[in-house]
Amino acid sequence: MTKLPQFKNKKFKIMLVGDPHCKPNDESKRELDIIKDYLELQYAAVWHEKPDLVILMGDNAEGETEEELRKTLLRITKPYADTGTPFAFILGNHDLECKVSDLKTQYAIYKALPGCVLPEDYTEFGDYELLIPNSAGSAPALHLLFVYSGGSAPKSDYGHYDHVKPEQNEWIRETCASAGRRFGRLPAVLVQHMPVQEEFALLDETSFLSMLTDGTYGQNEQRGRFYRLKKTTPGYMGEAPCPAAYNSGEFQAIKETRSIFAVFFGHDHMNDFIGMHEGVLMGQCKLSSFNAYGDGLMQGVRILEFEEDAPFCLRTRMLYYRDLLGDDCRSITGSTKTLRDRTAVKLEAATKTLGVLAALSLPLIIRKLIKRYR
Ligand SMILES: [Fe+2]
Ligand SMILES: [Fe+2]
Repeated sequence: MTKLPQFKNKKFKIMLVGDPHCKPNDESKRELDIIKDYLELQYAAVWHEKPDLVILMGDNAEGETEEELRKTLLRITKPYADTGTPFAFILGNHDLECKVSDLKTQYAIYKALPGCVLPEDYTEFGDYELLIPNSAGSAPALHLLFVYSGGSAPKSDYGHYDHVKPEQNEWIRETCASAGRRFGRLPAVLVQHMPVQEEFALLDETSFLSMLTDGTYGQNEQRGRFYRLKKTTPGYMGEAPCPAAYNSGEFQAIKETRSIFAVFFGHDHMNDFIGMHEGVLMGQCKLSSFNAYGDGLMQGVRILEFEEDAPFCLRTRMLYYRDLLGDDCRSITGSTKTLRDRTAVKLEAATKTLGVLAALSLPLIIRKLIKRYR
């Protein structure tokens, strides 16, 4: 196993990489452009931020064979290997949909990659922990929990996505309790691909009309509903959250640990909002590649910064492609290239539509007025 990174000068920085969605290279120009843009973003982010640890947030890569998956993963983790940056990962709902559909086989492939810090011990569900040592290397200063949130719901289940199992919730409780018994109460951060249902607490339910401004429609089990970010929720929501339909009580388990103070998710490619709910910080990490639907040049990575002397605190921000590399992106074309603020774009479209409707109905109104006053 690659040596676990530790706090340096009492600081520790993590870079979250949302939904790489990398496919085996088919050598087409489009495919080559996508991978080049992804790699440029990753190299630029790693050089700029010099993170101590990178975390791939799931929906990472596909492969028809183990060798193909290994090559795809080698290619997408090259920026970390080249810069000596260790990386960890979680799997997303799509990772086991490829031909290499066995979790243990995938974990063995990841583990053999340069820089991967996957420990020997992980659960049958793929969950694991990392205890990040303090600057002196004398004790852990940060506890990281990696949870596999599942794939599509099995036919016998209901809803669109599978859910975190009760055994995993028990693992979350026990893992934090065990660390507490050995090291005292440690600040802990949990990462998983799919958000928990409680993320909706950061949103307001609104009306269809909000779609003209900052609203978005619900998906799957929330179809027919409309949402916008609460005024107290900073960040951006380009799509409503897509958690599992069944809530197994994971958020309750997280709260009960009293050590997990922040949880980060991927999965929803166009969301980067963040907010507190019942004492737990929940944050979204946007898509960081160009292989799936996303938010144009506003895609990027999320940075988390920790201080050894300020446990249970963190600073976090998004770092967008546009911030690092400007507008020169091969895979993004058309209106998404110039996109800066989707709300402004929607408002402009709504104003234009209303203007056209008003112009079209004006002759009718005039005719009615003439008839009335004749
Ligand atoms: Fe995804
Ligand atoms: Fe996903």
